[in-house]
Amino acid sequence: MNVDKGYVDAPIDSTLNLKEEIIKLKKEKNAVILAHYYQKGEIQDLADYIGDSLALAQIAARIEAPVIVLCGVHFMGETAKILCPDKKVLVPDTKAGCSLADSCPANEFEKFIVEHPGHTVISYVNTSAGVKALTDVLVTSSNARQIVESFPEDEKIIFGPDRNLGNYINSITGRNMTLWNGACHVHEQFSLAKTVELKKQYPNAKLLVHPECKNSIVVLADKVGSTAALLSYAIESDAQEFIVATESGILHEMKKKCSNKTFIPAPPEDGTCACNDCNFMKLNTLEKLYNCLKYEQPVIEVDSEVAEKARIPIQRMLDISEKLGL
Ligand code: 13P
Ligand code: SF4
Repeated sequence: MNVDKGYVDAPIDSTLNLKEEIIKLKKEKNAVILAHYYQKGEIQDLADYIGDSLALAQIAARIEAPVIVLCGVHFMGETAKILCPDKKVLVPDTKAGCSLADSCPANEFEKFIVEHPGHTVISYVNTSAGVKALTDVLVTSSNARQIVESFPEDEKIIFGPDRNLGNYINSITGRNMTLWNGACHVHEQFSLAKTVELKKQYPNAKLLVHPECKNSIVVLADKVGSTAALLSYAIESDAQEFIVATESGILHEMKKKCSNKTFIPAPPEDGTCACNDCNFMKLNTLEKLYNCLKYEQPVIEVDSEVAEKARIPIQRMLDISEKLGL
């Protein structure tokens, strides 16, 4: 089957009920669907598990089914494949990349590490397998603080690739990690001025901010955290209104879990764009998921030497997280 486009481009009978067919295929193939909170709502609704990057890695590590369909972006599929080398790991559209991962090419990161000898390398999970292979320990936005704090205060640390998450962790831990200058195009576009205006319009609303956002937005937040942490905060809070500064997909689960509360997407700088959508995450569609399960393509492959090196910092992250009860 040709997957040059990044997905299986086979014709689909238009009379099919795709949701039912996907559920049937999933059983037939003994496959498990994992979906990130940024996926389209209809994909999240079909998933066996939905979660943030940490949860998806933790679930992938313990899954027994022979086929994992990772509805997320490419690095998430790679992480699952590295953790489960004997399983078939599928991503409906392998062109679902990540601007943050792309902002840190492995060869340039390697030079950066050489320029900073004696440093421990901590990388965000939003990286290619090649960057993971150069890393001592991985983090996600759920565990970055605790993992950084698990090192002695005087440890010299390189943190990559997200300068915003790195700055945020420096600010709350008092560390002075050397940061790679990368960022996510979705989280960098929220407008400070418009968010301040929106807060005036909704004075009782809590502002929920992902730490990939710029510092100017982070400092205004009532809660800074991973997608899962923002969701939990919204569920547990007595507040009725929330302004959400992260990718729009999380609103689906927030609205499902809190049907009586109001969620307002934080405004982007450019009022005319759909910038709160991650164009990569949204490449996965029901049609591509259906064909992916039907033809068991496209598969995620990771060079075995790279995978062997990359598994060490991923496993280290999972071990520390387990020890800390995360
Ligand atoms: P989470 O760690 O919250 O899943 O974030 C992943 C991501 O890609 C944020 O842009
Ligand atoms: Fe990458 Fe940003 Fe999309 Fe997350 S939202 S997958 S960091 S491009």
